[in-house]
Amino acid sequence: MSFCHRDIARVARKQMKFEIERAKRTGFCFGVKRAIDIVTRAANENGHVETLGAVVHNEQVMQKLEKTGVSTVKEIDDIKGKLVITSSHGVSPEVEEKIRASGIEIVSTICSDVRRAQMAAKRLADEGYFVIVYGDGNHPEVKGIMGWVKDKGLATTNEKDIADLAIRPKRIGVLSQTTQAATEYAVFAQKVVALSLQRDAEIRILDTICHDLRDRQATTLELARRVDLMLVVGGRHSANTNHLANLSSKIVNTHLIETATEINPDWLEGCRRVGVASGSSTAEETIAEVITCLKDLSG
Ligand code: F3S
Repeated sequence: MSFCHRDIARVARKQMKFEIERAKRTGFCFGVKRAIDIVTRAANENGHVETLGAVVHNEQVMQKLEKTGVSTVKEIDDIKGKLVITSSHGVSPEVEEKIRASGIEIVSTICSDVRRAQMAAKRLADEGYFVIVYGDGNHPEVKGIMGWVKDKGLATTNEKDIADLAIRPKRIGVLSQTTQAATEYAVFAQKVVALSLQRDAEIRILDTICHDLRDRQATTLELARRVDLMLVVGGRHSANTNHLANLSSKIVNTHLIETATEINPDWLEGCRRVGVASGSSTAEETIAEVITCLKDLSG
């Protein structure tokens, strides 16, 4: 069975031949695996469960969960049942309070690494630091972390936002969204230090990047250096998949694809080696389909 969307026969006439190599770390990370297990169990026990937002940022995984009785609501006011599941990205304390105040029970699937980042932010804010979260302020994980900081900090990936502060704080704590690229966070942290040095300044920099992703980024880049083309399989809304694809594209021609059907045979012309990597919420099944498609195309 082929998972390719394109006309294999047409492509095969071009007699493409390439090797396929998979990055050492692919498939679900432990946090996503745990979240899916919790949701699946709750759906089995209750027949149907609602999640507040997507539990993981992967369309194919969410579609599969839907078939087991999982539905997703965008807002707290849309929750119909007496129980809701919150995502592996976590939520802010305000969101939790609002849900409980509505008499709804919460089952959290927050990843332990995200929880660590939330607690690190809270500790820094409690100790009087102005907290800078290196991340995308619109991402649910960053919103959840900022909920512990309130107005005692900001979320950004641009150090100019710190330079623009009306009053430059003397005590600054810096941490990262768990899914950011470690190398880019290091550069950002150095810039914050350079910007913030002033008399009696105190700057704390915490490493809150997920270690699964650190390994994933390292093994993906190691593979990217040895191939002619990289395919990074994962959700277009997945922050870590986008970071992987961006990092890889700095080394070699790279495409982010959600499924095998998106593979364009034209990309493969002249390639001798093709690498496959994945984000942390990509199912093994989806990666296997991509590899099967590539094998078909390689003749
Ligand atoms: Fe957690 Fe890292 Fe996965 S933060 S959800 S183990 S990508």
